[in-house]
Amino acid sequence: MSIYEVPARVREGSPNPMTSLDSYNDLAERVSADPDAYWVAETCKRVSWRTEPTQGVGSSFDDIAEHAITWFADGTLNATESCLDRHLETRGDKVAILWEGDDVSEGLSWTYKELHEQVCLFSNAMKARGIVKGDRVLIYMGMVPEAAVAMLACARIGAIHSVVFGGFSADSLRSRAVDCRATAVITQDFGMRGGKRIELKRVSDQALIGLDSVHTVFVYKRTEDNVDMQAGRDHWWHEAIADESPDCPAEIVDAEHPLFILYTSGSTGKPKGQVHTHGGYITWTSYTHQHVFDLREDDVYACVADVGWITGHSYIVYGPLANGATTLMFESIPTYPDAGRYWDMVERHKISIFYTAPTAIRALAAQGDHFVTRYDRSSLRVLGTVGEPINPDAWEWYHRVVGEGRCNIVDTWWQTETGGICISPIAPATPTKPGSATLPVPGIEPVLRDAEGQILNGEAEGLLCIRRPWPGMSRTIWGDHDRYVDTYFSMFPGAYFTGDGCRRDADGYHWITGRVDDVINVSGHRMGTAEFESALVHHNAVAEAGVVGFPHPIKGQGVYCYIVLAEGHDQSETLERDLQNMLRSHIGAHARVDLYQVVPGLPKTRSGKVMRRILRKVAEGQPDALGDISTLADPTVVEAIIAGARSLD
Ligand code: WTA
Repeated sequence: MSIYEVPARVREGSPNPMTSLDSYNDLAERVSADPDAYWVAETCKRVSWRTEPTQGVGSSFDDIAEHAITWFADGTLNATESCLDRHLETRGDKVAILWEGDDVSEGLSWTYKELHEQVCLFSNAMKARGIVKGDRVLIYMGMVPEAAVAMLACARIGAIHSVVFGGFSADSLRSRAVDCRATAVITQDFGMRGGKRIELKRVSDQALIGLDSVHTVFVYKRTEDNVDMQAGRDHWWHEAIADESPDCPAEIVDAEHPLFILYTSGSTGKPKGQVHTHGGYITWTSYTHQHVFDLREDDVYACVADVGWITGHSYIVYGPLANGATTLMFESIPTYPDAGRYWDMVERHKISIFYTAPTAIRALAAQGDHFVTRYDRSSLRVLGTVGEPINPDAWEWYHRVVGEGRCNIVDTWWQTETGGICISPIAPATPTKPGSATLPVPGIEPVLRDAEGQILNGEAEGLLCIRRPWPGMSRTIWGDHDRYVDTYFSMFPGAYFTGDGCRRDADGYHWITGRVDDVINVSGHRMGTAEFESALVHHNAVAEAGVVGFPHPIKGQGVYCYIVLAEGHDQSETLERDLQNMLRSHIGAHARVDLYQVVPGLPKTRSGKVMRRILRKVAEGQPDALGDISTLADPTVVEAIIAGARSLD
């Protein structure tokens, strides 16, 4: 198997404390010998504290049920001072946000001074509408710079933002608003993506019907078209900031004050509100962003994710801004106006660090190399990937065609819950193997366990856990700490269980094999099968639904859906379309089923539990590998399922 040494160009002139495997190992050992001392010193160096902390971690995984993890608990700060104020003197005129609009002709850049001013104006506008420290504010926007301003303005006044991806439906937005009892929503008239309009304001209005807790809606005006505005509740962004002061002192909070809530899909229908806090999160995102990508002062850094997901939070907004970087925000999609869009951007903006998802790499590779090679990519130095396992072919293409073999690839493994990158090459230090996320970031102690909980040493494949707390981890699930403990700490008491499978090779390199629970990862979007199932059974033709993932050549995983029809209903041409609409309105536009199969029944044990393993194997095209099915109540169901199995043509 190929190993790629770090290209000379990536190592040369690097300011990184880790520029070889030796220096990486030394540092990792130092952190693990005394994490508290290391992280307290590190955070004081890289974060603007009002009161510097003296404490490292509080509590441990052993008594997490009683005490949430804390970091730096005796410190006070506001994360936005690290992202804005402290750069004003040295980097005031440096570009903070570089915005590339949906249409190639639209773009702007804001310096740190300008961004600071925008955030202050909007913070004051929020305060003027009665939004105070601790309030929850939903942000439902597209990729405009104002989305970053909205996040930072919430943080600045001590409010807790919860960004909801602009593809989610009114139902999804509403259930999140209800769960966190939001008092305000920040949205825009329309989002723009790939030449299409997304009706963000109309969907927000629908979500908010009868929701009394929300007293204020701010609407950023992206287009010239009209939308309905509700008197008293709705305010145009530009009008709200018009008379405000461009100065707004940050509300100083405790290190453990929540910075944001971000909802993730899990194995039950109800999304989990992951809570991240000011001190630990800003430390972790800043540390990992700087070291993994080997950030340098003149870099132009582009992460083409959406702020609706954790990648956008950590590596478009908080990490890069905390490091005083120039960070790009991209409103469009990789194939608009054509499959050369990313590389056109690389040439025009001289991007040096580029971060995307395997699904985009596969989709673009399938379009042909000429979309890449016609642009000058000589500015590129580090190429990142995140969100799902990357297959070696896609990795090689990224390395060879996009990076011309001159860049290091960082395959970064992490999760909404981890706050930031946990297993990844350190760009100037770690030789890479295509398809491997390689080694843990210093401070992360991964362990593999078998299903019985035995720790597996050396070369092994098992369930990925993390043994010790790290500053960036989510602290709880909003309003439901028991669920947090139950989800992550009940399987293996004393360790955080990630939900992923992983193989470790003889060099200690990690190869993530994917989720081992009922979460599916479609194009890097994490979705719960239970969410699909509970939406589908709303249709009166559907008695039962069973949803599983299957390997998909572009999306990583596709969605396979087994349907049991209700009495008196037949399969019809319109059924699939109706079900698709059902999913769109219950979850969002990104929730699409790739293959439907009508079956006489779901395979159930005599106690009535669906044997999902069978559904999975058939969807994966491996009906010969079903294993023991002797506990099934009705084995003939399985024959029918196998006989009618579908696959992508
Ligand atoms: C998967 C996204 C393999 C994994 C940051 C994880 C990955 C889930 C990688 C979290 C990677 C993320 N290699 N798998 N480099 N990165 N994953 O919360 O299954 O949206 O558990 O966070 O994505 O998805 P989430």
